[in-house]
Amino acid sequence: MPESRANAFADPDRHVMEKAYARWAPLYDMVCGPIFESGRRAAAAAARQVGGRILEVGVGTGLSFADYDRSTRVVGIDMSAPMVAKAQERLATGEFPHVESVMVMDAADLAFGEGAFDCVVAQFVITLVADPERVLDECARVVRPGGEIILVNHLYSEKGLSAAIERLLARPSRKLGLRPEFPFARLAAWAQRHGAVALVERRPIKPLGVYTLVRFRRLPDTQARAAA
Ligand SMILES: C[S@@+](CC[C@H](N)C(=O)[O-])C[C@H]1O[C@@H](n2cnc3c(N)ncnc32)[C@H](O)[C@@H]1O
Repeated sequence: MPESRANAFADPDRHVMEKAYARWAPLYDMVCGPIFESGRRAAAAAARQVGGRILEVGVGTGLSFADYDRSTRVVGIDMSAPMVAKAQERLATGEFPHVESVMVMDAADLAFGEGAFDCVVAQFVITLVADPERVLDECARVVRPGGEIILVNHLYSEKGLSAAIERLLARPSRKLGLRPEFPFARLAAWAQRHGAVALVERRPIKPLGVYTLVRFRRLPDTQARAAA
């Protein structure tokens, strides 16, 4: 979308999202689980390639726990207490020893030190946060140099009928905790401004290509200083 049209819609209100996900929590796995499966799995597969300690931002009910393995250590955070309660129930089954912990936390204010993770993953989250650039800054802060930030989302279609429908749905879908009109350009612009991350991949997810996987790499410190 031309930037001006993309910005015609304000970023989501945190309280609206909190309310939406409190309502979704009991139904989320049944309704949204299958819809988001291809994207969620692709992002987890990319994160497994990086390996090590992984932070999952906006972990929701923990549907992705099964997509990691024992070669990784996963920490999940989400701002929605009802969604986190579901993730904690899943963790309590004992089936996911690679998951260290799941906690309530705002992605815009991560309580982790600089470079604490090898990889940060956010599946179907960045378009829904109240301040996407601030959340991306936080992700870049807690990932180590050489580590990755991996996002997967439906992004704005930019042109044609799909784009028109997405613009039409932009306002009414907010209350449902959805956002169809978030443009890729905003992610690319953030990376450019940040200076210590590089865009390494932008790929539509099969079979339908409605989701896009985006990978950023945190530059080694020397490269980031040279680019500044
Ligand atoms: C569409 S769900 C995705 C859940 C999970 N990643 C998945 O793929 O099933 C979006 C999640 O983002 C969370 N979220 C939205 N804004 C957030 C924020 N600022 N900090 C942490 N989590 C947030 C919501 O509470 C919700 O659980």
